[in-house]
Amino acid sequence: MSVTAVALTKQDEEQRGALVERLFRGGVALLEMFSIYVGDRLGLYRALAENGPSTTAQLARSAGIHERYAREWLEQQAVAGLIEVTTESTDGAKREYGLSPGHAEVLLNPDSLNYLVPIVWAIPGLAATLPALFKAYRDGGGVPYKDYGAEFRNSIASLNRPMFKNQLGTEWIPAMADVDRRLQADPPAKVADVGCGSGWSSIAIAQAYPKVRVDGFDIDEASIATARENATRAGLNRQVTFELRDAAAPGRAASYDLVTAFETIHDMSDPVAALTAMRALVAPGGAVLVADERVAEAFSAPGDELERFMYGWSVLHCLPVGRVDPPALGTGTVMRPETLRRYARDAGFSGVEILPIEHDFWRFYRLRQ
Ligand SMILES: C[S@@+](CC[C@H](N)C(=O)[O-])C[C@H]1O[C@@H](n2cnc3c(N)ncnc32)[C@H](O)[C@@H]1O
Repeated sequence: MSVTAVALTKQDEEQRGALVERLFRGGVALLEMFSIYVGDRLGLYRALAENGPSTTAQLARSAGIHERYAREWLEQQAVAGLIEVTTESTDGAKREYGLSPGHAEVLLNPDSLNYLVPIVWAIPGLAATLPALFKAYRDGGGVPYKDYGAEFRNSIASLNRPMFKNQLGTEWIPAMADVDRRLQADPPAKVADVGCGSGWSSIAIAQAYPKVRVDGFDIDEASIATARENATRAGLNRQVTFELRDAAAPGRAASYDLVTAFETIHDMSDPVAALTAMRALVAPGGAVLVADERVAEAFSAPGDELERFMYGWSVLHCLPVGRVDPPALGTGTVMRPETLRRYARDAGFSGVEILPIEHDFWRFYRLRQ
């Protein structure tokens, strides 16, 4: 089909108009996401939150940036509705800008479930890996997780951390009453946290259940180094340990009361081998908990925003990450419940129960021995 020569029907024209509008809106959103990144990295939101409503000159002084840039950024942020004009003036130099408490929570409170600013930290990693991504698309290979860089890693960790901190010990584990009881009991229970990344889930388990010992494993060296630092800062060095280890490697067999895998199975190049190893780690009567993306049961197009969000990560990050090491299955972000059931069956589990936990992003699977 020649793109230029085709006469458009009314329906084609409507579709064309809708796409033009969509790309325009996407362009606005893209530019604003970059501007949020600038404001975050240069400490501009923090300066506004700490110093209260500020003029251009005041923000420039408090954040240590040039006044001309401060003026343009403040005007752009106000026009975008990200910050507010708190004192209007026809004299731009006297106009004051502030950050509302609700927006401050989203942009500056790392403990809040509404802390979403880390999503923009993924931008540099996604951009930097594009040449490798194009190569992978052509030759079917992968892009190593570490190539996405420290900011990307921290983006994932910081987006997930508030969920671990606020929900893991109060909602997720208590949804398995027997496990909740065991983790509070003596002798102290043992937990293995597979694909632990920067360690926030392991730390949250230890904080929610002060008796337990947690061993976190991850294949990414930088993540394990960060996890150790995070545990030290939390004062949990004796209760939580981290080890550089492939999830598929055999560990201490039958010795854990709970084995967890948070948002990691779909990233693994050999998820069945990992699940097989996890099954071997768990002690008789223990539990295996997998939390992974809350995608639809089956493919359907067009999809809702959550499905679009998950596919967006998949085409740029999760699929190429899962295509790196042989057998490089490449599950991608969109791991359907049926796919996990199949992996679990192949790994020797007798069944998979979906736990009744309301969650915007994740589904919780308890794998039965
Ligand atoms: C999306 S991150 C999630 C990290 C962490 N669980 C969290 O929720 O913040 C996926 C993690 O899986 C780890 N991973 C991937 N394949 C692995 C494997 N075969 N063994 C252990 N960890 C693996 C990656 O290194 C990365 O830290």
